[in-house]
Order: sequence, then C-alpha cells, then structure tokens
Amino acid sequence: MTASLTHNDNIDTRFGDLRIRRVSGHIGGEVLDLRLDEQLTDETFAHLKAALLAHKVLFVRGQSHLDDASHQAFGERFGRIVAHPTVPAPGDTKLLELDASKGGGRADSWHTDVTFVEAFPKISILRGVTIPAYGGDTVWANTARAYEVLPDALKRLVESLWAVHGNDYDYAADRSDLSEQRLRHHRDVFVSAHYEAEHPLVHVHPETGERALILGHFLKKIVGLSSNESQRLFELLQSRAVRLENTVRWQWQKDDVAIWDNRATQHYAVNDYGNQPRVVRRVTVHGEAAVSVDGQRSRTRRRPDASNDSQVDAVIAATA
Ligand SMILES: [Fe+2]
Repeated sequence: MTASLTHNDNIDTRFGDLRIRRVSGHIGGEVLDLRLDEQLTDETFAHLKAALLAHKVLFVRGQSHLDDASHQAFGERFGRIVAHPTVPAPGDTKLLELDASKGGGRADSWHTDVTFVEAFPKISILRGVTIPAYGGDTVWANTARAYEVLPDALKRLVESLWAVHGNDYDYAADRSDLSEQRLRHHRDVFVSAHYEAEHPLVHVHPETGERALILGHFLKKIVGLSSNESQRLFELLQSRAVRLENTVRWQWQKDDVAIWDNRATQHYAVNDYGNQPRVVRRVTVHGEAAVSVDGQRSRTRRRPDASNDSQVDAVIAATA
C-alpha cells in the first residue's frame, strides 16, 4: 500500500466522512469540521488514521473542549501513550509540556521525536494551550518524499548506512543564541539519563511500506564514516529533507491540535516570538523499532535501566 498523495488530487481530499484541506503540496492537511472526543466513532477514527498516513501531519482547529485527560484519551486510540524518557511530565500525566519560558520549551531545530531510543514514538499529538500573538509557527518536513526524490545512486548509498542517535547530541553546535537557562536544562534535565540507539538511515514504514529517511538533530554519527564524512553526508541529506517545497508551516491558534506521523516527518518550532508566552502540550504514542530495507531492526546502544545492562553491553560490543 502506498499512502502518497499526488498533485492530481483536489484541494480537498476525502477519507470516508472526513474532509481534509491540503495546506501545502507535499505534506499537511487540515481536517474540517471534526471534534476530537469520545463521540468519535471507530469508523471515523479509521479514516483519520488513513488520512494521517497520507498527509503525514493533520491539523484540527477549535478543540477548546480538550483538557489534559481527554487529550491523552484521544492519544490512547492510536496505541499506548508514553511519557518522555527524561523530561518530567506535569502532574500525574504522561504529557510533554513545552513552555517557552522554561529551559526546554523551544524546539527550534529539525528533529524527529525521541530517535535516541530504539522504538521511537510513532505518533505525536500537540495541543496549542497558549499561543503568541505572532510567530511560533511549527514546520514539518516529509521524510518519505525526501527519500523518494533522491537520485538512485544516493538511494543505494543511504539504504546501506546506519547512524547513532543520542540525547547527548551536540546541542550548542553552530549556535551562539542559547541562553544559560537552555544550556542548563539540556545538561541537567534532557540528558539526565543517557540514551543511544542505532537506526538505519532509510527505514520501511510499518504501515505504508514507504521508505523514509531517519535524520534530525539527535543523529550523532553515521556508522563507519569519519566524523567529517558523517557530518558532510548528514548535511547533504538533511538539507534535501527540509527544502521548503518538502515542508508545511502551521500558524497556530489556541486550541489547535497537530497530529503527526513521527515515522515519516521531522519538525521545527520557529523561535521568533521573543518573550511572549507560548505553551504547547504533547501526547506521544509508543512506536516500534525501525526496520531497514534489508529487514534489520534498530538497536539500543545505551540506556540507563540497569536490569538489562549485560544485554545492552553485548549489543554495544557487537555494533561498536
Ligand atoms: Fe519535537
């Protein structure tokens, strides 16, 4: 099954009773006239999932009825929801709160969520709680199309490569704008426990069968290349993935919900709203290990829970 849309499709696409309005040419659709609540039938939810696989990211405006509990309940319809591995959740929730006034609240570099673990999330659902008067848009890129439009020779090269992703990636690389508060949060909270996983550069999407690139800022090194070669190849691929034609940009309103397929996208929160308050909350749905084109699964290189240390050490030894 392929989930790709084509340019021949109309502005509006239909998935059963759902009407989706395209936001850009290759990724992103706004779901019209939908209320995300317990009234959502299984049939409509199945159409919503199909639309998500096709559009990669869906936007739903006006969900003012959602609170933390119903936001989480909606997420659970996609699968088991999980808290962030290192950033504490508010209250007794499994939410990730991104509050711009706090150290870790500005996700202003390109990434796929939590790729520093082997089974990274399959779907993320972000709710606009406090939205600035201007700025603070989020941009998503389609990593399946990024693979699809590679020249054949580059496809063959990247299909054979793997990369190490870690939460201790070089956060301050090429950046002089990071405040002491952000650096401290990264060091003391985000990397309070150390995770590393190895993923193929190209994985096969478990539901659509599409091939997609796994890149983003958690990628530390492409296995088997020198640091310099790794960096150059990463930049070549990453710059293709985030070309403007391959992206969609969403201007948030309060109570908007964005749902994305984390297996086929990267995203970036534009940090152009100064000191205005901005708070968004994310529900994250557990995923599976990625699978390479030749059928090998992503593997853990490092994780903090001691119970499986010998197993992990063996993996590290085998892949070092
Ligand atoms: Fe993110």
